[in-house]
Amino acid sequence: MGLTVIDLSLRTGSEVRIDKAELLSGDHAAAIRALLVERGVLLIRGAHLKDEELRTVARSLGDLRLGGSKRGADGATLREGDEGVLKVSLDEKVNPEYARFLFGNHLWHMDGTYEEVPPFATLFTPYKLSRVGGDTMFANTYAAYEDLSDEDKAELDQLRVVHTMQAALFPAKRDCTPEEFAVWYSYPQRSHPLVWHHKSGRKSLVLSTSGAFVEGMHPAESHDLLQRLMIHATQPQYTYRHEWQLGDLVIWDNTGMMHRVLPFDRESGREFHRCTLNGEEPVSAPREPALQH
Ligand code: OGA
Ligand code: MN
Repeated sequence: MGLTVIDLSLRTGSEVRIDKAELLSGDHAAAIRALLVERGVLLIRGAHLKDEELRTVARSLGDLRLGGSKRGADGATLREGDEGVLKVSLDEKVNPEYARFLFGNHLWHMDGTYEEVPPFATLFTPYKLSRVGGDTMFANTYAAYEDLSDEDKAELDQLRVVHTMQAALFPAKRDCTPEEFAVWYSYPQRSHPLVWHHKSGRKSLVLSTSGAFVEGMHPAESHDLLQRLMIHATQPQYTYRHEWQLGDLVIWDNTGMMHRVLPFDRESGREFHRCTLNGEEPVSAPREPALQH
């Protein structure tokens, strides 16, 4: 039995029908990986993966991020744990390290824009769903780039954006304390080209709520440009909204997709388990060829 692929929307997302044993065997890993890069988001229903199985699938697709502390999703310090599985929950008892930062996931973002080499992909499976809300949305930044005018493409190619933690977190938590803000402010910033020239030859926009300003541009122009691009890239033709069912496995290509979670009740106990695959290339601009490994 092979893979059956059913597209979820015109330009983003495919459901992959595959038997669980075949998924775990890794026999289709190359095909799944290629499809992930092509379609941005993959959905496998009814997988009901235990942590060990989630890791097995992750390892078949790339370099599983293990242990240690990293600046992750929203600039938060992520502890993937030695096991490589992170519990994504707003409950500090479930994830004392990360729960405090999770609110940043409500705004459109890429994970790990604070890293020189942002993570390649994420595998995400629900353990407990909220009764109301909590869908996850994805926006395809390859497709959004492709549809820009030639003028825009030429101009944006020259630009770099500085990503900061306070830009990502403050809009999501306006009642933060000065101490919290000071912690965010103390985190390192990272500058990335606005247009990513991938090794594959494809190009995508590097947009995220963490994108604070365009280097060298007047703050007003920078604000207007980033806002315009964010509005452009999150139009319905570039997005896919996922309504979760227990047992789902969703994998997204973090290098060509933004994502966000829609509001849900904090008390719902919503909990996901996730594996992160390390990035494989830095965000490269045209005259900065990707580092060769
Ligand atoms: C993440 C994230 C969204 C969600 O884990 O990086 O953004 O739906 N999660 O919880
Ligand atoms: Mn995220």
